[in-house]
Amino acid sequence: MITLDHVTKTYTNGDIESHALSDVSLSINEGEFIVILGPSGSGKSTLLNVMSGLDVPTEGTVRIRDAIISLMDQNSLTAFRRANMGFVFQQYNLLSTLSVYENVALGHHLGKKTIDIEDMLFDVGLSSHKDKYPHQLSGGEQQRVSIARALIKEPLILFCDEPTGALDERTGKTILALLQKLNRTYQTTIVLITHNPAIQTLAHRVIKMNSGAITEIHTNQKQADASSLSWS
Ligand SMILES: Nc1ncnc2c1ncn2[C@@H]1O[C@H](COP(=O)(O)OP(=O)(O)OP(=O)(O)O)[C@@H](O)[C@H]1O
Ligand SMILES: [Mg+2]
Repeated sequence: MITLDHVTKTYTNGDIESHALSDVSLSINEGEFIVILGPSGSGKSTLLNVMSGLDVPTEGTVRIRDAIISLMDQNSLTAFRRANMGFVFQQYNLLSTLSVYENVALGHHLGKKTIDIEDMLFDVGLSSHKDKYPHQLSGGEQQRVSIARALIKEPLILFCDEPTGALDERTGKTILALLQKLNRTYQTTIVLITHNPAIQTLAHRVIKMNSGAITEIHTNQKQADASSLSWS
């Protein structure tokens, strides 16, 4: 589904080069739930940005199914992302002039339209907030709107960078249970970055990173249920 072949990413600021990714090769299967773990600055977000076409690699190729996205121009890439990918980031990227309902409806509009907007709002615990605007919500509530917007699209691949970072344990688990349901029901491929080691038990495979490289890939024989997680 996603294949990275000898990918490097080097940022140059003046005379200083920083090697965010050095020679990363990786293949992610259709329907896999991947968790990426690693210390701050190890290249997790860079890896996610490069494999989703939000950023271009300095060297190497990124392929999604048969499309070599590392060679696409910006317009094709934007269209490809819109058709196939969902994103959940730490910063929520909500549209401030639209209500909760309208923000989620945007994701619905772009997607397969099989999930009802009201049902999705209920699942993320936002039914009573649906007419509010983002500035009237807490950080965790805004995070849940952005998650609802990404999930309702039912994308082929869902990329999540610290999706539960701003959430308390109970809400975090609810969100992870939704991701797990999406993965199990629709075989949505999920790539999730986290600092919380407890979350790795949900994954089919766990990728550990350090200093811009993959240091370990661990396969879980069995995936834990999100509801059984104990937070740390
Ligand atoms: N735009 C940029 N310009 C220069 N250096 C960058 C840029 N973006 C990232 N880096 C550097 O690349 C390295 C990897 O950054 P990245 O954001 O991928 O780390 P991360 O593992 O996601 O960290 P965190 O857990 O803190 O989010 C870091 O050393 C960072 O300083
Ligand atoms: Mg990061």
